[in-house]
Amino acid sequence: MKRLAILGSTGSIGVQALDVVARFPERFEVVALSAGRNVARLAEQAARFRPRLVAVADEAAAREVARVVPAGVEVVAGEAGAVAAASHPDVQFVLAAISGGAGLRSTAAAIEAGKEIGLANKESLVLAGELLVRRAAERGVTILPVDSEHSAIHQSLVGHNRAEVRRLLLTASGGPLRGVPADELRDVTPARALRHPNWSMGDKITIDSATLMNKGLEVIEARWLFDVEPRRIDIVVHPESIVHSMVEYIDGSMVAQLGVSDMRGPISYALGHPGRLALDLAPLDLVRLGRLTFEPPDAVRFPAFTLAYRALELGGTAPAVLSGADEAAVAAFLAGRCRFTDVAELCAAALEAHAVEPLRSVEQALQASEWGRREAERRVGR
Ligand SMILES: NC(=O)c1ccc[n+]([C@@H]2O[C@H](COP(=O)([O-])OP(=O)(O)OC[C@H]3O[C@@H](n4cnc5c(N)ncnc54)[C@H](OP(=O)(O)O)[C@@H]3O)[C@@H](O)[C@H]2O)c1
Repeated sequence: MKRLAILGSTGSIGVQALDVVARFPERFEVVALSAGRNVARLAEQAARFRPRLVAVADEAAAREVARVVPAGVEVVAGEAGAVAAASHPDVQFVLAAISGGAGLRSTAAAIEAGKEIGLANKESLVLAGELLVRRAAERGVTILPVDSEHSAIHQSLVGHNRAEVRRLLLTASGGPLRGVPADELRDVTPARALRHPNWSMGDKITIDSATLMNKGLEVIEARWLFDVEPRRIDIVVHPESIVHSMVEYIDGSMVAQLGVSDMRGPISYALGHPGRLALDLAPLDLVRLGRLTFEPPDAVRFPAFTLAYRALELGGTAPAVLSGADEAAVAAFLAGRCRFTDVAELCAAALEAHAVEPLRSVEQALQASEWGRREAERRVGR
């Protein structure tokens, strides 16, 4: 029996994780759930999974939740709530699936508390990857990726010698706007950018997928998770989203992981680790698919991913600034306050305006992210 905390339980990943958990009642017990403001969905989840603790983002939501959760369930508000869920003494495994930089403190708390972690919240590693990975190693904490690409790489590394890795190849679907000509991108609406062909995800990551910033953030995530220099991490666009990523070894051999586009696959890999869960997803029918295609990413139409390499080159607080600027720019785009093509420009401008400092603490990473957010906001306002 693995005892779980699901952070971001009301989101796309959280809901799919609970779907996996519900299929294996003899394997998992939900001890803590943490959400933002979706009180109705959290109440349903609490009634069904009977956690000991639920957390919500603010006091108003906490008062509402307290009225509707079963008696005896502890309710904690604010960031302290997610941190309490992540470090609850009865929890063994934390699924970190809050969206954005808001997930960093609870991920850090899970590491400090020595929990095994299933990490969906890539922004934790973008903001403070170097610190978190070092601290996890000191604490003997395992971080299992939930992002499908990193899960694929994790699976492709098992049984191999890390010193024999030549490069990592992250696959990208190309996102909802892959075929859109450069001169149309400026006028793309949020509704169009949110229509992802292969994956149903939260809004922030779907827009990041459209700009290819998501792939850039994944390069940063891979850099820290697998301790590989950025020049040995490549991106290849693979519109079918069947090959979830690959590792190339020094003899030229490539090891890849393939599967249907269903996040319950990588979620169950992390939850079941070191074993696998017998998940009855639709089988992958390669014969029916017929062909798998690959192409290079287009840095002219979708320059956002190149900013991640630039941020890694600048080092220190730069990736946190990029992440914060991206959150603000995506929110502005979704609110109709800037154009699609402005998102990458706002991020580039914030990155170049920032005076980089060596990264020493999680707090400093959060401040740098906040600086990036404000800088992008200021430019949108202008
Ligand atoms: N969705 C995917 O397929 C996918 C794939 C790979 C990686 N990821 C990563 O997984 C993470 C979650 O993505 P998602 O698509 O599941 O996002 P989502 O659908 O937007 O869900 C986000 C979750 O975080 C909660 N949340 C947001 N702000 C919060 C705050 N300040 N405090 C506490 N909780 C907060 C939300 O709560 P409420 O809804 O209750 O407000 C919700 O439960 C992201 O880092 C994303 O990059 C997602």
